[in-house]
Amino acid sequence: MSKQGNVAIAPADGRLGVLIPGMGAVATTFIAGVEAVKQGLGEPIGSLTQLGTIRLGKRTEGRTPLIKDFVPLTPLHCLSFGTWDIFEDNALEAALNAKVLDTPLLEQVKEPLSAIKPMKAVFDHDYVKRITGPNVKSGSSKMELAEALMEDIREFKRRNGCTRLVMIWCGSTEVFHKPGAVHQSVASFEAGLGNNDPEIAPSQIYAYAALKLGVPYANGAPNLTTDVPAMLELARENQVPICGKDFKTGQTYMKTLLAPGFKARMLGVRGWFSTNILGNRDGEVLEDPGSFKTKEETKLSVLEQILQPDLYPRLYKDLYHAVRINYYPPRGDAKEGWDNIDIFGWLGYPMQIKIDFLCRDSILAAPLVLDLVLFLDLAQRAGLKGIQEWLSFYFKGPMTAPGLYPEHDIFIQLMKLKNTLRWMQGEDLITHLGLEYYD
Ligand SMILES: NC(=O)c1ccc[n+]([C@@H]2O[C@H](COP(=O)([O-])OP(=O)(O)OC[C@H]3O[C@@H](n4cnc5c(N)ncnc54)[C@H](O)[C@@H]3O)[C@@H](O)[C@H]2O)c1
Repeated sequence: MSKQGNVAIAPADGRLGVLIPGMGAVATTFIAGVEAVKQGLGEPIGSLTQLGTIRLGKRTEGRTPLIKDFVPLTPLHCLSFGTWDIFEDNALEAALNAKVLDTPLLEQVKEPLSAIKPMKAVFDHDYVKRITGPNVKSGSSKMELAEALMEDIREFKRRNGCTRLVMIWCGSTEVFHKPGAVHQSVASFEAGLGNNDPEIAPSQIYAYAALKLGVPYANGAPNLTTDVPAMLELARENQVPICGKDFKTGQTYMKTLLAPGFKARMLGVRGWFSTNILGNRDGEVLEDPGSFKTKEETKLSVLEQILQPDLYPRLYKDLYHAVRINYYPPRGDAKEGWDNIDIFGWLGYPMQIKIDFLCRDSILAAPLVLDLVLFLDLAQRAGLKGIQEWLSFYFKGPMTAPGLYPEHDIFIQLMKLKNTLRWMQGEDLITHLGLEYYD
């Protein structure tokens, strides 16, 4: 345990087990990517932990180490992967199905990938309607299912000789639901697990199993999962870091780049129409109105929070914001997202901006999974517990303490993340004031 900064950070010794519910496009692109990088077949583009630097001290000091040299992160060769899915395909077969990465590349990592076979999932068709698969656990109660997951986790840890674990949800988007009575405390949640309360979603059973065993949990989907008092209580009680939700990748990532720019220059926005076509399994699941509603919530909230219409009614009060997602199989994972933005400037004169982002969803998501896994593990070794707001950078709907509005501006999020790392290591926080250069 080293203490040079504000917290003591345990070393990243031994293997870190990465537990992933949902082995689809994102999870396989992440795992295959890590294996490819390890073999020197590609670069970890898009990953802050692998490529990012951090400025320390004054601009005149010339200290900008790589983030991974500044804080102790687990090296890629020390990661082991364990997954659950409702389909029996191993990671190679699932990656071939997802059609994100080219077959010749996958051929070169086929050995480690084909060794990853998904454990039986905890699944409930009422929560994800468009898919059905055979690789599902059965149990007489949700508590029994949670215990089976805990057994999977212990067994995985033992078999892979891991010293630490992290869980990250890469499963489908569940139907929209709100916190109910069962989610109000650990006691009511545990009673609900025992009597099969229909308000407990499968993702919450995974999160419960993880938190019970002290395993940090990240939520890559917009699911409710840990956004309820019971999970926050459990995370605090067991000293476990959590974060979420919904990876900030394609269109919403663009929004959080542009909207702060409009606001910074006091430009008005009258309308923002966003539409997408995508043909992967995620797109198929999102065809279901219940799952789409969950996604729509995180996608819509971003502009409202960034533009602050209450503070700037003349610029943003009547903003019309719509988001559509259309399932279009020919495109597979290569999504196309269009944005039409109606802005206005000096004296109210209108202007338009059109964006056509031909993006690859999982190529954008995979490096975020890697960073979240490594940073959550760092958080745990640094003794941080509960919601990790400094990881907002990665999410469309950042979790915050109850009553606190989330920060969506990606540049503020990045500053917060880097300042947290500086704080951990006892370096001066950077405020960008800089008056001292002109004394
Ligand atoms: N790709 C992106 O850029 C992006 C961005 C933000 C959020 N997400 C979210 O990440 C998640 C994964 O995306 P994807 O493109 O890999 O989707 P995907 O459909 O390819 O993979 C999801 C997998 O989860 C499995 N699954 C569903 N319910 C499960 C359960 N209860 N237990 C275990 N497995 C389960 C499915 O069988 C499927 O294989 C989705 O919720 C998606 O909305 C993705």
